[in-house]
Amino acid sequence: MGIKVGTDIISIKRIQKLLDKFGNRFLERYLSKNEQLLVKKTETAAGFWAAKEAIAKALGCGIGKEIGFLDIEIKKDDNNAPYFNLKSKKFNIIDSSLSISHDSGFAIAVAVIII
Ligand SMILES: CC(C)(COP(=O)(O)OP(=O)(O)OC[C@H]1O[C@@H](n2cnc3c(N)ncnc32)[C@H](O)[C@@H]1OP(=O)(O)O)[C@@H](O)C(=O)NCCC(=O)NCCS
Repeated sequence: MGIKVGTDIISIKRIQKLLDKFGNRFLERYLSKNEQLLVKKTETAAGFWAAKEAIAKALGCGIGKEIGFLDIEIKKDDNNAPYFNLKSKKFNIIDSSLSISHDSGFAIAVAVIII
């Protein structure tokens, strides 16, 4: 058993530019329909991007062949706190935790995974 941590930070302006240029096609690239329903502002879209990168880092592979953006599903609990599930069971995750924050033009996420 081991504890893995991953973190990521992204400029909210960078996400806004991609949204301006590609609109929904950009969201579709990394968010499921249910995740898109949770996104009411660019800060959240940026936070979800950072979250998926952080989760992929905690898994030790990064977004790529092993795990894609759409293999990770971010959800919110009744208090609006984020958490996530993976579509694949191959990583044998025992427990996990996700935290997202945004301020001063940046969104940051930290993911902790117990494997
Ligand atoms: C919830 C709270 C901690 C968020 O902190 P903040 O400084 O306002 O905002 P931050 O940018 O740091 O964080 C925002 C992110 O925190 C996450 N978040 C929201 N509510 C959360 C909660 N209850 N627990 C953990 N994370 C939470 C979300 O991912 C949110 O971003 P998103 O909605 O765009 O996805 C803050 O609003 C707060 O203390 N609220 C008052 C108490 C409260 O609402 N409690 C909820 C029940 S415990």
